[in-house]
Amino acid sequence: MKELIAASLKYQGGKVQVLDQYLLPHQEVWHTCQDVASMQSLINNLQVRGAPLIGLAATLLVAYLAEQGAEKSQLCEAIDALEATRPTAVNLKHCMDCLRQALQQNQYAGAIVQSAERLFDEDVALCQRIGEHGVELVEAGDNILTHCNTGALATAGIGTALGVIYTASKQLANIHVWVDETRPLLQGGRLTAYELARWQIPYTLLCDSMAASLMAAGKVDKIFVGADRIAANGDFANKVGTYNLAVLAKFHNIPFYVVAPKTTFDANCAQGSEIEIEQRSATEVTGVSGSFGECQWAPENASVFNPAFDVTPASLVTAWVFDSGVYYRPEFRAI
Ligand code: MRU
Repeated sequence: MKELIAASLKYQGGKVQVLDQYLLPHQEVWHTCQDVASMQSLINNLQVRGAPLIGLAATLLVAYLAEQGAEKSQLCEAIDALEATRPTAVNLKHCMDCLRQALQQNQYAGAIVQSAERLFDEDVALCQRIGEHGVELVEAGDNILTHCNTGALATAGIGTALGVIYTASKQLANIHVWVDETRPLLQGGRLTAYELARWQIPYTLLCDSMAASLMAAGKVDKIFVGADRIAANGDFANKVGTYNLAVLAKFHNIPFYVVAPKTTFDANCAQGSEIEIEQRSATEVTGVSGSFGECQWAPENASVFNPAFDVTPASLVTAWVFDSGVYYRPEFRAI
């Protein structure tokens, strides 16, 4: 396989390597991943995370195993096991389906490697095009609010919603970003803040619950968020807390944009209620762990509700930004 290099994933020197996103921003640790169990664990623990990235990381691992001479049945098992790691982001399923097709060919190892290279390069190009379309929605001086992390760390390219912000900041003066910290795993406070600082884009971090008063004070011009799965009717799943923002945006009359590559669109899913929402461990809510320390504040055995994502209805979306363009209702159905 050729060399493939992204911000948090690379294939280099014959090895699949991932940047540990659970340890960021205080520790930059790269892991080499050589087997399915390790990749499953990296994805389950959110060391590898973000809808496009989990699909691509799983893909590179399967391509690596194919290059190492794994048999067809082993590759088939690997694809199934990796697809089962996280249920909500459709990008992972999309990648695994592409590999299943490649596996049908006589020269399946070569076909898998080719698919992996194509999926990786395609994601870079999709992010680029998303940025070019999304920038049309941004004006100089905008204060943009975003949630979770949708940047280069979460994709092979410049990112999706954060990619739009990155593109805008290159072309327009005085772009400022309000960054939701994104409880419980703090992808905003840890990862989006880290990326914006590296890109030298001015930002301000806030607790998720502060967004309402910020909007009421007229300090948010636009909201850009990513997606893990967009249903055929435009409903979409994204990091828990996104739905709150959409409701608040409607109330305060603030444009609310969803940004994603075509690989996040699921034509087989009619509406948001059909999207499976991943439920995660109680310990993520009862305390914290990671490079920011280890601590439990809730009482032992506290009862916890911890869905990783929520579903925002299409009726709350101002427009969907895809690699193919910006779609307002009712044109959305044309995708
Ligand atoms: O649980 P995570 O950190 O993988 O959730 C990520 C998100 O919800 C992102 O907004 C989404 O995957 C889009 S990333 C370009």
